[in-house]
Amino acid sequence: MELDDVAALIRRPVVRSFDPDRPVPDDAVGRILEAARWTGSARNRQPWRFATVRDRATLRALAGLGAYAQFVADAPAVLVVSSVHHEYADSEFDVGRITQSIVLAAAALGLGSCPATLFPDDNVGAARSLLGLPEGWRPRHLLALGYPSAGPVTATGVSAVPRGRRTVEDLVLEDAGPPDVG
Ligand SMILES: Cc1cc2nc3c(=O)[nH]c(=O)nc-3n(C[C@H](O)[C@H](O)[C@H](O)COP(=O)(O)O)c2cc1C
Repeated sequence: MELDDVAALIRRPVVRSFDPDRPVPDDAVGRILEAARWTGSARNRQPWRFATVRDRATLRALAGLGAYAQFVADAPAVLVVSSVHHEYADSEFDVGRITQSIVLAAAALGLGSCPATLFPDDNVGAARSLLGLPEGWRPRHLLALGYPSAGPVTATGVSAVPRGRRTVEDLVLEDAGPPDVG
């Protein structure tokens, strides 16, 4: 694989609008998790667990547990990403790493995805109860998964967040000014 191929996967924009006629097969989710589970974590703790949700009523309920999660209601499938609640500072970093592995593996199968954050903490607790997850696991993020919509972008498929990225020059700390991250 060439660097350009990796860069092309990384560059894929998030997808919030999915083809309603193309379900995400169980086999695809299994292959994605099989690839992603090899992600490294601090002290190899693997402080992550996943739940796949396809039930429409549950997806609608989850969509109401984040301020910007409306698109989750229409997603063909959602992977709920739970992190373990303990004192290790590395866990959130680890969970971000495996989520990126999932995003890249999904993209390699032609699947689009978009994360959503569940907040405040009461909503994280509500999601845990809704999904029947064991005590101690915090479902703070979801990843909507599906084949990108072929048609026009729907109201739930747009975002007010600006596109594009900072340049490498902007990102190199020696050259940067004080924090300006919004
Ligand atoms: C940790 C995290 C949480 C996010 N939460 C949401 C969310 O709640 N709702 C949403 O629409 N997008 C969410 N996003 C998607 C970001 O808005 C998106 O990655 C960013 O705007 C870049 O989009 P682009 O790659 O299409 O340019 C989240 C992304 C990350 C990494």
